[in-house]
Amino acid sequence: MKNQQLNIGTLITHLVCSKCNATYSHQIVQTFSTCCNVPLSAVYNLNNQTIDAINTSDYTMWRYQFVLPVIDPVNIVSLNEGFTPISQLKKLAHQLSIDSLYLKDEAVNPTGSFKARGLSMGVSKAKELGIKQMVIPTAGNAGGAMSAYCAKAGIEATVIMPKHTADTLKEECRLYGANLIQIDGLIDACGKKAREIAASTGAFDMSTMKEPYRLEGKKTLGYEIAEQFNWELPDIIVYPAGGGTGLIGIWKAFKELITMNAIKGPLPKMVLVQSVECSPMVHLFNNGQLPENYTPKSSAALGLAVPYPFATAMMLDVLRESNGIALTVSEKEMEDGVEEIAEIEGLLLSPEGAATFRATQQLLKIGWAKSTDKILLVNTGSWYKYR
Ligand SMILES: Cc1ncc(COP(=O)(O)O)c(C=O)c1O
Ligand SMILES: [Zn+2]
Repeated sequence: MKNQQLNIGTLITHLVCSKCNATYSHQIVQTFSTCCNVPLSAVYNLNNQTIDAINTSDYTMWRYQFVLPVIDPVNIVSLNEGFTPISQLKKLAHQLSIDSLYLKDEAVNPTGSFKARGLSMGVSKAKELGIKQMVIPTAGNAGGAMSAYCAKAGIEATVIMPKHTADTLKEECRLYGANLIQIDGLIDACGKKAREIAASTGAFDMSTMKEPYRLEGKKTLGYEIAEQFNWELPDIIVYPAGGGTGLIGIWKAFKELITMNAIKGPLPKMVLVQSVECSPMVHLFNNGQLPENYTPKSSAALGLAVPYPFATAMMLDVLRESNGIALTVSEKEMEDGVEEIAEIEGLLLSPEGAATFRATQQLLKIGWAKSTDKILLVNTGSWYKYR
């Protein structure tokens, strides 16, 4: 019977180093693994656990609370994030001459992007652990999300963003009461400033993958995809990656679901999409290293301009394990993609979301994707925030 085990509470047991599996406690504040200098990953006791523990009366990502790290539900800081729709893009599929094309639309999340998932989780866990001050380097969306959740939690927020970021993304941080600092450069320069601020003020550094819990929020994307597809996963998932939390999170969810016997293999092939202007993961996937003349630049897809992601090894693992691929799209392709999808499907996607459509076209063209494949695109954010 569904819901038999309702309110069983979290099954988290500990954290592990994503490289050597050394154990870390989830009971105290953690950043990344000090043994190998890589992200930490949360572990749950899923032996003999079934998926029936989903709280099906909760229409947010918190319906999966038993596989999320918050111990006391009183600490949950929620603005009703997650459980976003998956729609079929029939006209675009027809145009591409493929059987089925789906879109998971994260634009409808609070603060207009999938960053709400990670920051709802990260801020909830920070509240549980008694953190009073947080700082985040951001390409835009994560900063807005952290500001909103910190406002609700009563935590002081500092957001560090590239100066060239769209005004809406800056203004929302101010409206949510955060301190906004603007920097010349990309998110890596913001990250440097965040480390300085954390060191001088004691604020907790929420940089992507440098704390263990934003990933757990993003993981709910994978749970939702599985549940919404009635536990029969698509063949291909196309994801626009910057720091990689979404890609790694979706894959983590699938592995946990296999442990619970909720899904069976083969799992989807995971596709990582970046902009030609900034594509470290595509270089690393194809050549094992960054080119000598690597000069990462900004992109209209702000979230993809992450020149030196912290979780490169974990992203490459996902691509390898899933028989996936990494590829770039040009700025022009993204721009045209936004227009084309808007005209055909009545949906205004973020440039990152449009990039997944253009990447799919390329994959069909080279025969990597087949017309019979069930393909899911992830639109990670709202077009309206890039003004
Ligand atoms: C709209 C959007 N898409 C994608 C990304 C990439 O996120 P990640 O690779 O960390 O999941 C970001 C990050 O800023 C974003 O704002
Ligand atoms: Zn280690």
